[in-house]
Order: sequence, then structure tokens, then C-alpha cells
Amino acid sequence: MNAGIIGTGHYVPEKVLTNHDMEKIVDTSDEWIRTRTGIEERRIASDDMDTSDLAFRAAEDALKDADVKAEDLDMILVATVTPDQPFPSVSNMLQHRLGATKAASMDVAAACSGFMYGLITAKQFIENGAYENVLVIGVEKLSKITNWEDRNTCVLFGDAAGAAVVGPVSDDKGILSFELGSEGSGGPHLYQGKEDDLLYMNGREVFKFAVRQMPESSVNVVKKIGLSEQDVDYLIPHQANIRIMEAARQRLGVPEEKMATAVKRYGNTSSASIPLALSEEVKAGKIKENDLVVLVGFGGGLTWGAVALRWGK
Ligand code: ACO
Repeated sequence: MNAGIIGTGHYVPEKVLTNHDMEKIVDTSDEWIRTRTGIEERRIASDDMDTSDLAFRAAEDALKDADVKAEDLDMILVATVTPDQPFPSVSNMLQHRLGATKAASMDVAAACSGFMYGLITAKQFIENGAYENVLVIGVEKLSKITNWEDRNTCVLFGDAAGAAVVGPVSDDKGILSFELGSEGSGGPHLYQGKEDDLLYMNGREVFKFAVRQMPESSVNVVKKIGLSEQDVDYLIPHQANIRIMEAARQRLGVPEEKMATAVKRYGNTSSASIPLALSEEVKAGKIKENDLVVLVGFGGGLTWGAVALRWGK
């Protein structure tokens, strides 16, 4: 039995903060942000909307898309570094709010790679026959931990949620291979400060790591199933910076129009970025039955993860 994505969903807050708006907050320019990162605008959640509220909306969207009822969920996995509070976990809160009466629930902490870690965890439970329907969500309210006085970081991030329902699919479909990894020695390059709870990043070091890791992991998952770069139909990379994404795209030789570029409109939404981008491409009808899709992410930890999946049920 193979596990695959049988439904996707997402939610973004209404409030848009453009690069021109950022010029009024810190010493920056639309030109700098666009050329260095590809970001044009980002979404910011209102004060009365916390991480679990964003996650709830994306979950509802994904369940509807999968035609799965909340009470039929066996497990809820939420990847986030910005939970409402340390515990109960966001997944516990969602279990109650969705009415997922029989679902086990836990949060996954792997920073921006969290959705990939959640997806691969879901795959294990489905392929060993223990569970049938697992809801995996990537969600962040990064605006809570953004230092709005630090131009090096505040221009990069945004709030959003993305979700996928993972379930059994036919043998030739679904997640065909994966790679997960971590490099704790790189922890000091990207972390949340213990004193002030704010996000700190050594952009140059993270950049170097990401342009090496994303192309390498993307190629590895394709090789694991005996295929080559030319066989990849669609690329959904972590939406952190268009220059890093381009490195992965060019290494695989995927045409520009076959790579999700949600980063332009939402910035870096950490764990939400991959499921958000995937959900948008699916809703736009860009990912077709039988497409070989590569999802690849990297993030704080340092961590990374990639899958090669054959789209369809
Ligand atoms: N506006 C204007 N100037 C700026 C800004 C800004 N918003 N931010 C930094 N600068 C300045 C710097 O101060 C520096 O000036 P200096 O040379 O006088 O010191 C100059 O721009 C160049 O800085 P660099 O670090 O060389 O710029 P670079 O081209 O590397 O781009 C960036 C910076 C975009 C942060 C890049 O390093 C990057 O994308 N790194 C990876 C970040 C990432 O992906 N993080 C998230 C991963 S995990 C997760 O998703 C949470």
C-alpha cells in the first residue's frame, strides 16, 4: 500500500503588507527586496487570529477537497514553530475544534522543514496499515516572533497555513521516495532567541546551506526511484527566496512555469510554504494526474526534507 496526498487546502490572512509598506517600517526598498528575494508582498494575521485559527481554515479546505470527514481522521500532525502556546499543541486544539473524535494528534517541530517531516511521518502510519486518513498541516504566525526593527529578517516572512490529507493510494501513485536530514551544528544560523522570543538569522550561512541542500535532495529522491532529473514534471520548493528556488529548478532542468512561486505573494511562511504552494498549484489545475512532483524544503535546525511523488489516487 502506498501513501499519497488525497486532498490539499490553504488559508492566508486578508491583510497585505507590500514592499512599499515595508519601506515605512525599516530602511529598505522594494527594489532591494525584489531583487534579493523575489518577494513582493506578504500576509499578516490580525491580532485576534492565532496560529490555530489559520490552521483550522486550511484544514477545513483540505478535508473538503479530499472529501474526508473530520470524524474519519485517524491522526492530525501540525508542523509549526509559532504555536498558540507550548501546550496543548495546535494539533490537540484542532482535534477538538474540527470534531475529529478518533484522531491522535501531535505537533512536529522541524522549523521550515516541518511539513516534510509531518508528511513522511503520516506516510509510515498509512503504509504499515495502522491508519487510513492523516491530516498534515504546516502553519505559522511568524509575525509574532518577527523583529520588526531588523531589516535583515522582517522583510522576509509572512503568516499562512497549508494542509494535506494523506491516505492510501494505488501502488504506482503517491509518495515514492523521500529523504530527511538534519545538521544540528548549523543551529546558531537560525533560531528563536530565549530572552526575547524573536527570530535570529545569519542569512548568508542559511543561503549557502540551502543552495547546496535543495538541489542535492531533489536529485536524490528522483534517483532513489530509478528516474532522472528529466522525469520531474513539477517542483514545489520551500518558498524562502527565489534565488535558492532557482538553484533547485535549474539543477533539475524543470521549466520556469513548472515551479511554484508563491514566495512573490506571501514571502517565507516557514512550515506553511510547501503545502500552501502545492494547494495553490493544484487548485489552479497546474498539477496533472500522473505528474512526478518533487517537494523539497530546508530550514532551521538545520533540517531538510524532500519527496518524489506521483500525483493522483
Ligand atoms: N533592505 C536593504 N538592505 C538590506 C536589507 C533590506 N531589507 N537586509 C539586508 N540589507 C543589507 C545588509 O545590511 C547588507 O549591507 P552591508 O553590506 O552594508 O552590511 C547588504 O544588504 C547585503 O546583505 P547580504 O546578506 O549580502 O544580502 P544577500 O544577497 O545574502 O541577501 C538574504 C540576504 C535575502 C537574507 C539572503 O542571504 C537569504 O535569502 N538567505 C537565506 C535566508 C533564508 O532562506 N532563511 C529562511 C530559511 S528557513 C525558514 O524558512 C525560516
